[in-house]
Amino acid sequence: MPKTNDNPFTRFRVVKSTPRIGAEILDIDLSHVDDALFSELHQAFLENQVLFFRDQKITREQQRALASRFGNLHVHPAAPHLEEDQAAFIIHTHKESKINNGGVWHTDVSCDREPPMATMLHLHVVPPLGGDTLFNSMYAAYEDLSDRMQKFLSGLVAVHDGEQVYRGRYSDRGVDDSDTEYPKSEHPIIRTHPETGRQSLYVNRIFTSHIKGMKPAESRALLAFLYDHAEQPAFQMRFKWSQNDIAFWDNRCVQHLAVWDYWPHERKGIRYTIKGDQPFHREA
Ligand code: SIN
Repeated sequence: MPKTNDNPFTRFRVVKSTPRIGAEILDIDLSHVDDALFSELHQAFLENQVLFFRDQKITREQQRALASRFGNLHVHPAAPHLEEDQAAFIIHTHKESKINNGGVWHTDVSCDREPPMATMLHLHVVPPLGGDTLFNSMYAAYEDLSDRMQKFLSGLVAVHDGEQVYRGRYSDRGVDDSDTEYPKSEHPIIRTHPETGRQSLYVNRIFTSHIKGMKPAESRALLAFLYDHAEQPAFQMRFKWSQNDIAFWDNRCVQHLAVWDYWPHERKGIRYTIKGDQPFHREA
């Protein structure tokens, strides 16, 4: 594939999903990723925030190897994992399920001091219709705020609390968390991406409990405004899954939401998350 200004990639084609976020990567086989292919994938990932790969018939070990190219794997603090692989998180919803995973806008495990930088989900079983995942650009959410609001938010820190999310959450899958202490961390509301240098909005409905240094009513009102602002359709895209598709998103600048509109059908796959660094804010 020739490299041109329009197409900076030689190993695959990129079809953007929307102007603000997302891209499908075409003509690619993820079963073996060499250094040159990895380097192009990494660039496409930073540019598009979430990548989609259709019909990848790769094994769990190959998915693990691919995710590991991006960094060390993260172990989820609450969810059950495979006995043979602590980093493998099985996403599974079926007719007995009472709740799906990630049904409210969030970034993965933002309660960790060093939240996972990226997540790779490979779905093996998809419902006949529905089960889409929505993705939302937090770069776009930040960039669309007024200069005054950007400045006001720049010094603020929010608390992200795992307790309110995880306590008892996986008891239906056999997890006894009576002795577990869930992570709680403070992160800047405006986060600077460590690789692109771009600013993004970093609060989410699941984990963020409050803003430090504000009265509860002020914190609630400001968070409510930020969530409403961030959830505008102009910053979003919606991915329709087929069997064996992979989505790979950057938790440092993307929120996502898994729609549960397919009960009693089954949806199943394997999710790996990659360790990240401690969020920071640096003035542009
Ligand atoms: C999640 O990782 O939050 C779930 C995403 C999905 O199942 O689409």
